[in-house]
Amino acid sequence: MNKLFRAKIIKNEQLTKDIYLLCVESPDEIQSKPGQFCLLKLNQRLDPLLSRPFSIFDHVSGEIKFLYRVKGKGTRILSTFKKDDYITLSGPFGRWYPFPQGDFIVIAGGIGLASVYYLMKRFPKRAYLFYGVREEREILFYDELREITKEMYISTEMECPYTYKGIVTELVKEKCKNLSLPIYACGPMVMLKELKKVVKESQVCYVATEERMACGVGACLGCVIETKEGFKRVCTDGPVFDIRELLL
Ligand SMILES: Cc1cc2nc3c(=O)[nH]c(=O)nc-3n(C[C@H](O)[C@H](O)[C@H](O)COP(=O)(O)OP(=O)(O)OC[C@H]3O[C@@H](n4cnc5c(N)ncnc54)[C@H](O)[C@@H]3O)c2cc1C
Ligand code: FES
Repeated sequence: MNKLFRAKIIKNEQLTKDIYLLCVESPDEIQSKPGQFCLLKLNQRLDPLLSRPFSIFDHVSGEIKFLYRVKGKGTRILSTFKKDDYITLSGPFGRWYPFPQGDFIVIAGGIGLASVYYLMKRFPKRAYLFYGVREEREILFYDELREITKEMYISTEMECPYTYKGIVTELVKEKCKNLSLPIYACGPMVMLKELKKVVKESQVCYVATEERMACGVGACLGCVIETKEGFKRVCTDGPVFDIRELLL
């Protein structure tokens, strides 16, 4: 059973209308790998009672970072937390992305960037990144991403002078005709469904799924996802799966 840690907030910065970067002091005991997640609990509050899962966006000595979108009650309350407040954190949980041997393709849909940034940073200049957002102002960490990726392609659903107009899977189809590199992806379910149509049967494609969770540790079956071998728990069997295994 993972321990609960009381962690001090270093910053909780608003990046866009509804996206925040939360940086907290990381207890030395936490060793993480890209693709894993933590459960964050809003301290003494009874409402919301359950912790919320967030991918580890980045983890450096003494600091662990989460990138989150305000969705409902929990994340709205989280967005009001300030520097020097405390939060209760547990983890890391879940299966991580198997490490790439050479170059690899990353597909990030919107806030899905939160799950794949750490992987690209861990293997700098090896990722061909395909990053899809709705509009220009939602493009996050442009300079940092250029720094850590080999090549970067951005798609926006709304017109923007320097991006591909359309959905990110279309951009992948256009640019990746001859590439058979392993793919690592995270994004909304609709993006994963499209991606499944693009991936060749011979191509390795790891995706992080973000089902709703309750216990986070495999006990409640609140997070199951359908696979070729029956239902699996996202919190312990995932969140990273080979897309060919999933019935999307
Ligand atoms: C393994 C994992 C990693 C995640 N990593 C991140 C991350 O790095 N950054 C981030 O912003 N979010 C992430 N999520 C999603 C995040 O946990 C939810 O957005 C959050 O729990 C919503 O809590 P809330 O109290 O604000 O919303 P609630 O009040 O619980 O729900 C509000 C709305 O959000 C929707 N919602 C709730 N949970 C999810 C979910 N898991 N996926 C999609 N929609 C949801 C609900 O359907 C509802 O419409 C992750 C989820 C999982 C399972
Ligand atoms: S959240 Fe309880 S089993 Fe996954």
